[in-house]
Amino acid sequence: MNLTELNRIATAMVKPGKGILAADESSGTIKKRFDAIGVESTEDNRRDYREMLFRSKEAMSQHISGVILYDETIWQNAKDGTPLIKLIEESGAIPGIKVDEGTQALPMCPGELVTIGLDKLAERLKKYFERGARFAKWRAVIDIGNGIPSMTAISVNAHALARYAALCQAAQIVPIVEPEVLMDGDHDIDRCYEVTSRVLNKTFQELRVQRVELEGMVLKPNMAVSGKKCAKQASVAEVAEKTVRLLKACVPAAVPGIAFLSGGQSDEEATAHLDAMNKLGPLPWGLTFSYGRALQAAPQKAWSGKADNVAAGQRAFSHRARMNGLASQGKWDVSLEKKAA
Ligand code: 13P
Repeated sequence: MNLTELNRIATAMVKPGKGILAADESSGTIKKRFDAIGVESTEDNRRDYREMLFRSKEAMSQHISGVILYDETIWQNAKDGTPLIKLIEESGAIPGIKVDEGTQALPMCPGELVTIGLDKLAERLKKYFERGARFAKWRAVIDIGNGIPSMTAISVNAHALARYAALCQAAQIVPIVEPEVLMDGDHDIDRCYEVTSRVLNKTFQELRVQRVELEGMVLKPNMAVSGKKCAKQASVAEVAEKTVRLLKACVPAAVPGIAFLSGGQSDEEATAHLDAMNKLGPLPWGLTFSYGRALQAAPQKAWSGKADNVAAGQRAFSHRARMNGLASQGKWDVSLEKKAA
């Protein structure tokens, strides 16, 4: 393992002004997104859609540091035969790959999940590296509810995340470690804070036990937010203050960067939260975005599966990427959204 090189890549992934495009929706998830815009989820439509994003020059060259791909996409070619991964490399962004294989019910723990995909992971990582992937992603899912999460769910998921991260580093791939505490449910922000704190502490304990080099990874956490169904929604200032406090307490400064998931926040909320946190800086790590929905909802709508709408889709994507790029430096302002609209 070359830690200097892993650290160089991890640092580039969270470079101020840039962040990560999570375009690694599984076949099931992209179908849901396409259903919402009335587009059939065929291999060609998925290719056309993602090609549109990766050919968005302004977004890709100025605001996107890396792209997380799904297995299908990393092997796919653009309409003109160029591998999609080449389009990403040529834009200056770093290609990455989702390597977990989704979740399964966790035995003895009703309502809880464990992420799978460790078997044969070493072999798969080798192939992805040869294809050009320089980072990977593994997502653990922790739900908040009546009596959950259990310590069992937190520990087995943290253990799997660390197993994955160690295998990545041995394969010269930077692991994005993503323990996602879901924002579904009616819990308040303080409950989210408390659960996320337990999850992050356990995750870093496992990373240390399994000898993962913190300088060669990126953390992808949720923010401390109110559950979607909570009657009392925390303000942007409260989310920013509590999330920064939580991360300072749980994430060692050796980690080069933190790239948030959007998790169901609206586009503008996700941007406003990131911006408010960076305005509280200086912070010990880079703090940026690794958004799926909050970057793609607008371009999906603008595109709606029509070749004639490609330019509009790219404009919508570039706008969100630019807004989040500014937020990663604490330089965003809501008036910039209005101007564009
Ligand atoms: P969202 O930003 O839509 O939550 O997706 C990010 C991601 O990669 C979740 O694993």
